[in-house]
Amino acid sequence: MSFRSVFLSVFIGLTLIVSALIINQKRPSVETSQPTPALVRATGKCAACHRHETSAIVHQFERSAHAAGGVTCLDCHQPLEGQEQVDHRGFVIASLLSAKNCSECHSTEYQQFLRSRHAAPAWAAVTGRSDFSAEQIAFAETYHKGAVDRPANALANREGRGAEKGCFGCHAIGKPNLDGSIGSCTQCHSRHSSSVALAREPETCGQCHMGPDHSQIEIYHESKHGVLFNAQRRSMNLEVAPDKLSTSDMPVPTCATCHMSGLDNLKVTHDTTERLSYWLFAAVSEKRPTYERGRAEMTEVCLKCHASTRVKSFFADAEVILASTNEQVREAQDLVTALREEGLLTPEPFDEPLEFIAFDYWHYFGRTAKHGAFMGGADFVQWHGNYQLLAKLTEMKEMARELRERHREH
Ligand code: HEC
Ligand code: HEC
Ligand code: HEC
Ligand code: HEC
Ligand code: HEC
Ligand code: HEC
Ligand code: HEC
Ligand code: HEC
Repeated sequence: MSFRSVFLSVFIGLTLIVSALIINQKRPSVETSQPTPALVRATGKCAACHRHETSAIVHQFERSAHAAGGVTCLDCHQPLEGQEQVDHRGFVIASLLSAKNCSECHSTEYQQFLRSRHAAPAWAAVTGRSDFSAEQIAFAETYHKGAVDRPANALANREGRGAEKGCFGCHAIGKPNLDGSIGSCTQCHSRHSSSVALAREPETCGQCHMGPDHSQIEIYHESKHGVLFNAQRRSMNLEVAPDKLSTSDMPVPTCATCHMSGLDNLKVTHDTTERLSYWLFAAVSEKRPTYERGRAEMTEVCLKCHASTRVKSFFADAEVILASTNEQVREAQDLVTALREEGLLTPEPFDEPLEFIAFDYWHYFGRTAKHGAFMGGADFVQWHGNYQLLAKLTEMKEMARELRERHREH
């Protein structure tokens, strides 16, 4: 063979390869890729395109433990049984994701979450039992009697559809999903950061745990714990995995530390009920059936940082406030019951001014006093709590006197 023919065949071969490459480059990227999870893992197709479409999502994902752990976009976005599928740029993805997608890899956390009041009870608190299957109701009722098998909330009914939207903003943390699962994990972890550090931030819980009816975030910021956390947070490490978290990483507690975290040898839990001993949210607070265990578990958390004498006296003081609040709330309730029996109030809730004060009485001021006492907020025990309890009871007694007087005159 001459040099000329060798040169020609190499030249033609190269031209063919280059033109094939050029043509291939002009084809839409969807056509050049195979929609298998393996390929997604190998090439990051979703990320390549979404880097232009919704770049922040890709950046958040890239910083997450998921990206470091080799989890792909499609691992979360692939449709599971019971989820609606949509064709998307050569892939099949789920139209809506739920706790079910996370539970595929994190079933322990999901099972713990299911037992908590963040799951079914949170949704039923607004809409009642109607959105749940008989099985779901039976499961939740074994852990929280009466928390799911109940009617829709009277106030939400009275306020109508607009109010529901407001309630849902917080209570959808336990909404039943079409795929049969319950709730959402992303309220605390976010969708693409999926971070434990974020979940340990007080403000994450404070999205919902705020305002006069459950002023936990305000109380926390007032407490020594909140003040110290804000002052020292830069020297803390909130990223540590729950089974390794120690008091040297976080020497000051946040909401998560007391209610959920693994700390030194404590077991982490997604069941936020485990460490509680009273139903503080109730008008009159009784001990939970799990009182002993709840108190013991919470005390163990405190003991990582405090001496037992201090912790005992702290809880004893809080129980004094709880008892005195219960007493005052009972007195207010008796007053309303008496007026109903005398025919001076209708049996309907929320149709007379006195009923709104009676509601605020325990729902705002009673709860605030109790929460302040158990989480270290003196101002909330006193001026947003005790003082209001006294002032509003005086006001209600005066209103009752006037109602009775007007009735006698007619
Ligand atoms: C070739 C480009 C491209 C590829 C590849 C691609 N997407 Fe998209 N994706 C888009 C565009 C464009 C949108 C629409 C953005 C908008 O509506 O503003 C979108 C929207 C989405 C949405 C929101 C859908 C909705 O309506 O709520 C999700 C979720 C999504 N993509 C996930 C993925 C996943 C997961 C992959 C990989 C399996 C992927 N995408 C691959 C371009 C792409
Ligand atoms: C840890 C699971 C997980 C991973 C991994 C994940 N996503 Fe998502 N993504 C979600 C969840 C949950 C939602 C919210 C979906 C819903 O509301 O139905 C979401 C929503 C989206 C949306 C719509 C967001 C909006 O606000 O409109 C896009 C686009 C998207 N993901 C793209 C991606 C891309 C691209 C990747 C990979 C770089 C990725 N996701 C990786 C869980 C994940
Ligand atoms: C395909 C399996 C898979 C799916 C689906 C998945 N994860 Fe993960 N997740 C992992 C892996 C792997 C890790 C890293 C574990 C490690 O580093 O020890 C992880 C870690 C985490 C962490 C710890 C992050 C940190 O800061 O250390 C959180 C929180 C988390 N996932 C939440 C979620 C949530 C919420 C969803 C659903 C929106 C989800 N995961 C879906 C596999 C998955
Ligand atoms: C800002 C977020 C937020 C909004 C809005 C909200 N809630 Fe709540 N709700 C909570 C939190 C947090 C608790 C837990 C209080 C506690 O345990 O101290 C709670 C507790 C409750 C409880 C007592 C617990 C139970 O299961 O019986 C009921 C009932 C309730 N909410 C109903 C409603 C209704 C009805 C609406 C709308 C009219 C509403 N909530 C609006 C966050 C919210
Ligand atoms: C998206 C809103 C939302 C977020 C975020 C949220 N919660 Fe809640 N939480 C609720 C609601 C609603 C309830 C009341 C459920 C019920 O009893 O009906 C509740 C109840 C609780 C309870 C009482 C459980 C019981 O058995 O009475 C604790 C404790 C709690 N949350 C702790 C936390 C902590 C700690 C965080 C942050 C790591 C957090 N929550 C984040 C909405 C939220
Ligand atoms: C120092 C530990 C500690 C911190 C920090 C803390 N809590 Fe608590 N929390 C408690 C204790 C103790 C109780 C009362 C437990 C019991 O005995 O029932 C409580 C009660 C509650 C309840 C009432 C549950 C019910 O029965 O109604 C909620 C909700 C709650 N905390 C949420 C939060 C949130 C949200 C934060 C952060 C903004 C927070 N906590 C910070 C220790 C703490
Ligand atoms: C109320 C807020 C909240 C909700 C809702 C929530 N998490 Fe978490 N999660 C946390 C906190 C706080 C931590 C870190 C605990 C600690 O500090 O030790 C955590 C830790 C984790 C971890 C790391 C666990 C480990 O041991 O490494 C995973 C995985 C996780 N969550 C998955 C989920 C999944 C899946 C769901 C939904 C079923 C979910 N989370 C719902 C607050 C939440
Ligand atoms: C991770 C460590 C940590 C945990 C857990 C913790 N605390 Fe604290 N606590 C602190 C620190 C640090 C201070 C500030 C001490 C100082 O003034 O130097 C503090 C201060 C206090 C104070 C005010 C100062 C005092 O001693 O009167 C009270 C009350 C208190 N804690 C109660 C509790 C209770 C009750 C629990 C459990 C429900 C708890 N703490 C859990 C670290 C912790």
